[in-house]
Amino acid sequence: MKTRMNPEDIFRIVDKYDGRHGAIISILEDIQAEYHFLPREALKIVASRTGRSLVDICALATFYRSFSLEPRGRHMVSVCMGTACHVRKSPDVLKDFEQHLGVRAGETTGDKEFSLSTVNCLGACALGPVTVIDGEYYRNVKKGDVASILEHACRAENILKMTDDERIFAVSVSCPNCNRSLMTHEHLMDGYPMVRVTASFRRKHGWVRLSSLYGDYRIESEYDIPRGAVVHFFCPSCHAELRSGRLCADCDAPMIVLLVRGGGTVQFCSRRGCKEHMLDLVGEETTGS
Ligand code: FES
Repeated sequence: MKTRMNPEDIFRIVDKYDGRHGAIISILEDIQAEYHFLPREALKIVASRTGRSLVDICALATFYRSFSLEPRGRHMVSVCMGTACHVRKSPDVLKDFEQHLGVRAGETTGDKEFSLSTVNCLGACALGPVTVIDGEYYRNVKKGDVASILEHACRAENILKMTDDERIFAVSVSCPNCNRSLMTHEHLMDGYPMVRVTASFRRKHGWVRLSSLYGDYRIESEYDIPRGAVVHFFCPSCHAELRSGRLCADCDAPMIVLLVRGGGTVQFCSRRGCKEHMLDLVGEETTGS
């Protein structure tokens, strides 16, 4: 973990996105991955290099709980306290983490090794209780597992490695109305086929491609979709709207639903910039193609 901010790192990260619209969140995520928090000087560089106001950048950095303006520990431990995990005794798991680490949720150990936090849902309810450490998912965690999980995390070993990517996994999806595949093998992101849909917002209608990596919010679109816009998504084959009937727990926008190959559904919020999403797998099958 880097402790001193190096402007060259920030230049490199910003330039990687080549001035793309909607890349600010990705830039902040990359900086956070490098330093485990967002140094204030880094935010100033992002503002000046992207031409965005520092106020806008700070608003984003403080809006999302995954970002931190304060230094965090080398290992990030997030215990899910969402409903599905809560009923499977995640409060006991949290208590055990607190005892082992000697800190409360929201705090960092004195040696800066671990930061402990809670999250409301990690979108993998079927695997609950879920804890994520440094991006690795630990499923069906029980109170007595905590010591060995921390040991594993320190040795960078995984109980559940979901893909070779180590942090995220790809899903292959189809339309819930006509069941036709929404995957496009002509357009890849990080080597994985993207999800192709059509979308309309504010009287504009065009194509949108979504990353198929679960938990990855990058998109490509015919029109720039401003942050905060609620988008209507449609199947490009049967033109049915892909609404799930649920509203986002965070912002009340409609949730979008897609069928996952192998069984289950993935849902995500239709508001650009909102990170609410959930995965409900049948048989827990995921695919990398
Ligand atoms: S409630 Fe824990 S992953 Fe959804």
